[in-house]
Amino acid sequence: MTSSFHITLLPGDGIGPEIMAMAVDVLNTVGSQMDLAFEFETALIGGAAIDETGEPLPEATLKTCKASDAVLLAAIGGYKWDGLPRHQRPETGLLGLRAGLELFANLRPATILPQLIDASSLKREVVEGVDIMVVRELTGGIYFGAPKGIFATETGQQRGVNTMAYTDSEIDRIGKVAFETAQKRKGQLCSVDKANVLEVSQLWRDRITALAADYPDVALSHLYVDNAAMQLIRWPKQFDTIVTGNLFGDILSDAAAMLTGSIGMLPSASLGASGPGVYEPVHGSAPDIAGQDKANPLAQVLSAAMMLRYGLEQPAAADRIEQAVTTVLDQGYRTSDIMAENMTQVGCKAMGEALLRALA
Ligand code: IPM
Ligand code: MG
Repeated sequence: MTSSFHITLLPGDGIGPEIMAMAVDVLNTVGSQMDLAFEFETALIGGAAIDETGEPLPEATLKTCKASDAVLLAAIGGYKWDGLPRHQRPETGLLGLRAGLELFANLRPATILPQLIDASSLKREVVEGVDIMVVRELTGGIYFGAPKGIFATETGQQRGVNTMAYTDSEIDRIGKVAFETAQKRKGQLCSVDKANVLEVSQLWRDRITALAADYPDVALSHLYVDNAAMQLIRWPKQFDTIVTGNLFGDILSDAAAMLTGSIGMLPSASLGASGPGVYEPVHGSAPDIAGQDKANPLAQVLSAAMMLRYGLEQPAAADRIEQAVTTVLDQGYRTSDIMAENMTQVGCKAMGEALLRALA
């Protein structure tokens, strides 16, 4: 029997449409091989949405996303929209999507593939075997806290304000996702905060510590965020699962991603308590190489695999896609961001075609 899925595609800006096209080809191929039917609906977000409708997250897009089984997003943003007021910026559309779908848990794996060890800027012995999952809180913290804004002071100055705040329940729900994630991995969870300075972090640490009693099979540790940043670069293999707030997670997940050689390789999943998740590459829209057939589509393709695994409960199809990525790398195909000596440099389309051959 064929299982069918309604997927919203959000290609967005920059290299987004190019890499999305490759992921769709891959999904269709795997679908026909495994009796899965995908019904795709494309919607506007980010700069593309601003150009068409004046807003970065049109109501219709959120509605389409809510009605689908999963959302596959590429990337948003570009120089063209950088000067617009905040409510009209592409990033505001992405934040609105996360909030609108209540996607409080962002899973960002950073796994180094053996074929790409030499693409890392760190020494082989430091990065070989790195396998980290960053669990980032995504709908709270300083990204969403009130008050926020730029206000006039009594002395005629401007004062920019954001608020870092977390409630018990916000910490507990991301904590649970993190402990459960660690249980499925090596059973080590490191919670990252700034409890030596920030009250919000003290509450974070207290709640995460209290939760640990429910997960006796998980070894919990804590690090301050500055130390965590240092340890990630010094000896990343000490980490298994990391849980942290929105801002720290934004920063640390980029650092963790770079351990693997290229941010162009890493997928992510943003999940809520129920309803569709959003699956997207960790990298951005790379406007400098957009439209030149240079982009690396692998993070997008691996995001489609994450969608099959976490959102649609199709692990066999996910395995197949991940296997095809391994195969093309073993065959020596590399986009420019991961190019190394004696490898075959290809563009986005040729990488996509290699994947389809590997799947056949
Ligand atoms: C990310 C990005 C976003 C974030 C931006 C584009 C709003 O950096 O997904 O990590 O800060 O969350
Ligand atoms: Mg980021």
